Amino acid sequence: MRDIEIIDAGPALVVGAGLAGLFAALKFQVRPVTILAGSPIGSGASSFWAQGGIAAAMGDDDSAALHVADTLVAGAGIVDEAIAKIVTEEAAPRIEDLVRLGAPFDRDAAGKLVFGREAAHSRKRIVRVKGDQAGAAIMETLAKAVRARDDIRVIEGLRATQLLMIDGRVRGVWARDPAGKLFTIVADAVLFALGGAGGLYAVTTNPVTARGQGIAMAANAGAVIADPEFVQFHPTALDVGRDPAPLATEALRGEGAVLLNDKGERFMLSVHPDAELAPRDVVARGIFREIKAGRRVVLDATKAVGEAFPVRFPTVYSSCIAAGIDPRVEGIPVAPAAHYHMGGIASDAHGRSTLPGLWVAGECASTGLHGANRLASNSLLEAIVFGARTAADMDATPIGRTPVDLPEPPTIVVADEAEGMAQLRRTMTANVGVERDADSLADAIAEIGVIRGEAEGETLIAATDTALLIAASAWARTESRGGHFRTDYPETNPDWARRTCTTLSAAEAVAAEALGATARAA
Ligand code: FUM
Repeated sequence: MRDIEIIDAGPALVVGAGLAGLFAALKFQVRPVTILAGSPIGSGASSFWAQGGIAAAMGDDDSAALHVADTLVAGAGIVDEAIAKIVTEEAAPRIEDLVRLGAPFDRDAAGKLVFGREAAHSRKRIVRVKGDQAGAAIMETLAKAVRARDDIRVIEGLRATQLLMIDGRVRGVWARDPAGKLFTIVADAVLFALGGAGGLYAVTTNPVTARGQGIAMAANAGAVIADPEFVQFHPTALDVGRDPAPLATEALRGEGAVLLNDKGERFMLSVHPDAELAPRDVVARGIFREIKAGRRVVLDATKAVGEAFPVRFPTVYSSCIAAGIDPRVEGIPVAPAAHYHMGGIASDAHGRSTLPGLWVAGECASTGLHGANRLASNSLLEAIVFGARTAADMDATPIGRTPVDLPEPPTIVVADEAEGMAQLRRTMTANVGVERDADSLADAIAEIGVIRGEAEGETLIAATDTALLIAASAWARTESRGGHFRTDYPETNPDWARRTCTTLSAAEAVAAEALGATARAA
């Protein structure tokens, strides 16, 4: 056996330090809890960047039932209604938890929470912080609370690379430091809160490190992966050549900002009755088609927000100024960008994955809440509700401190494969993007295979595994629904009104079928 440092993480190991991970860590009754974070907690995760807020039916004119109804419509026929009911009903107590922890939500003069509105919500129900700073403010609050607790151990700078499976049960992870030194982290139970997969795309609003590594690790251990083909593209990322692309929050359109092409036309008026406030996938496709036709698109908030921009949307304002754009007086160039993955590691109502000993929460999980298209600001809500539910379920599942015989550690290769990653990201944006068809998806599958064949390092290999799950499932779903738009099957097909449940080996079989079909057609 190689000489590798072993860390005993105790009863519960939380892998990932976004909203779901930190919130869960604060909720566990079992102690101690260990958090494994690739970067310093508080700022490294996508949650930190969230601008919108948290959807919660807490207003006098609102109810969980109305919130469920909006979630079902946005999800385009494949939302798990029981999950939507749980999440919307548990929204208020979880927001109250955040308030107790010190989250500085916007309040009116009487001290009551102020609720904002976003597209496809029938009521004002988004709790925000200073307009567009919810993610950063909530994450700072939670990071401070975690650091104040001496029964939560935080290990920063180690990345999980593989699940530690013993007798068919998850008993920890293998992790490495940036230089490739390997660690064995043993725990009684593991929670993955590893974020999304937007970083697999060349144009994304996510941290570029969000490359579906949780999905890849779970899939390699045999977990069921749900709905991987459903990727949400945010319509209005700043098109200013930055990677990742800064977000121009949908709240701007909620305030009346309009989309104009370079002929000055408000083109969304002819696309959908709700124009700029149409469902997110419709607006993303509207902008995508303008850009494909060679027209630049700007988000014009000069009338709707104007001089108030720096105060009301400070995050967007500073991104614009950094790019040399003054949004008080000129339009903001925008383009769609990969923003949220509705797919992920299949989870039940308690956050259990199909692997014994592995729970999942946050964007790496697929609970069924979002269906084919996530309703704005439902993701942070899902993260806190499922953070709490996974902690409660792990607490209620006694595992025991059984000693384990550790298997031989894997060989982990760390390689700088920037070009391979860039090629993968270009392929995903070009061929598995806002619009897809059988040919583009088969091209992507072939390209992913080539990149996978040449890859040596674990980071790129894991990225190709998740990319393959997305592309193969998108090829197999011969219809359009929510965030998945097939130009060769532009209609929604009732026969496809079901979620996808797949595995890595099933996706590999679909990929072979796609390549065979292309070869036969040629
Ligand atoms: O536009 C936004 O602020 C995004 C919100 C969300 O993704 O939920």
